[in-house]
Amino acid sequence: MVKKNVKIKINVNHLTGELEWFTKVLDERFKQYFNPGKRTRDILKITPPVFKKGSSQYAEFIDYYQLSIPERIVLILSLTPHVQPHLLDVFFTRNQKFNRGFTEFGGIKGEYHGGFLPTGETAMFILAGNNIERRIDFSYIFGREHFFYKHKILQLQTSNENEPYLSGVLRLSEEYVDYFTSGKIKKPKFSLSFPAKPIETKLEWSDLVLDEDTANQVEEILTWIEHGHTLMDKWGMNKRTMPGFRCLFHGPSGTGKTLTAGLIGKLTNREVYKVDLSMVISKYIGETEKNLARIFDKAENKGWILFFDEADALFGKRTSISDAHDRYANQEVSYLLQKVEDYDGLVILATNFKSNLDEAFARRFQSIIHFPVPKPAQRLKLWENAISPEAILDKDINLNQIANKYEVTGGSIMNIVRFASLKAISNGENIIKNKDLQEGIIREFRKEGKTFS
Ligand SMILES: Nc1ncnc2c1ncn2[C@@H]1O[C@H](COP(=O)(O)OP(=O)(O)OP(=O)(O)O)[C@@H](O)[C@H]1O
Ligand SMILES: [Mg+2]
Repeated sequence: MVKKNVKIKINVNHLTGELEWFTKVLDERFKQYFNPGKRTRDILKITPPVFKKGSSQYAEFIDYYQLSIPERIVLILSLTPHVQPHLLDVFFTRNQKFNRGFTEFGGIKGEYHGGFLPTGETAMFILAGNNIERRIDFSYIFGREHFFYKHKILQLQTSNENEPYLSGVLRLSEEYVDYFTSGKIKKPKFSLSFPAKPIETKLEWSDLVLDEDTANQVEEILTWIEHGHTLMDKWGMNKRTMPGFRCLFHGPSGTGKTLTAGLIGKLTNREVYKVDLSMVISKYIGETEKNLARIFDKAENKGWILFFDEADALFGKRTSISDAHDRYANQEVSYLLQKVEDYDGLVILATNFKSNLDEAFARRFQSIIHFPVPKPAQRLKLWENAISPEAILDKDINLNQIANKYEVTGGSIMNIVRFASLKAISNGENIIKNKDLQEGIIREFRKEGKTFS
């Protein structure tokens, strides 16, 4: 309890220091704005407080992202309504000439919030005043490439797309408000401390339709699950090789990658957890590592299978080190890869693209399994399996012909059959019509951006 209070105290101290600096910056901007021509100093030259590394969440954040002064101004501006809202009351100053607020200050008056809510325009006013060149220079802070946006830290919330982008309200994500103040992140529904969900399937192993090559490789995984322990412990391979089994599933969407992972779990009586990579990577400093460690620890004790979807986020990031921030993201990727390597259970990474996988990365996998678009024979099976036993196919439907003609995945077949079946039900029938099936096919092709022939 005591420890917690100390932590909050440090946060408060640092935020107070930062706000004092911010107030000086604001004062200076206003002075310059209302007394042009007077000798002034550049607001960016007003030195911000220096915090000891890692001493508060706020300090840690600044250090981690190597925030520049303009970025720091934007950040503290976005936090001000949450901690010292009255500091922004100066922006309510009226423009006597027009008897209204100053356009250049931006900002809005909240619906319930009594104070001033800064917008992108407010930030620009502080950073650049009337200087157009500077405005352009700093616009990157609100760009989609900036980590504020990419990591869902801070965004401009616009309710009207026809208005200038900077008129969007500067919104610091709720998690970060908590993080900088109480130092704790509230757990959202799909727990941040455990950003993984079980994969469950009602289908059975016998429903899985794979070509021979793919099926054989999937069998190898089953063999490992069954005999891996003998290999490692009794045969003593644990001294010679890495523990665990790492596997990459690659292939187009809807070819059964997720389904296969789920079925492997069902067949071997193990939980399969799907980890949301987009949520794990770079979401919270320090927290990322902790969360990942937690997932792996929990899973390892229980023999869970870990499934990482859209794994390209991993190998994509590793290759391009374009700026300092990517470097930090890379550190997390390396950490994750290390965890994947150390894990002594089954890890499956899934992706739609294999092309940008580098060699060093490929070496870490015990198997790389391709899930191709199914061939006609498999497609026929998929069509047959997809149709409900309650339904009857109209006489003029020739599934064999359809399977031959249309190169579609199992996922698409499911969608088409669902579409045609619903049409039948809504007509109060149990007969699936050829016309509806054809329409379903056309729709599916359109969805994939393919032309229909
Ligand atoms: N090989 C298959 N055998 C049986 N059913 C399949 C197969 N492929 C797809 N399906 C059906 O399509 C649905 C979607 O497939 P799944 O989610 O496994 O595709 P995916 O390869 O993981 O796609 P994505 O890359 O978009 O994640 C499955 O739940 C299943 O009903
Ligand atoms: Mg999938």
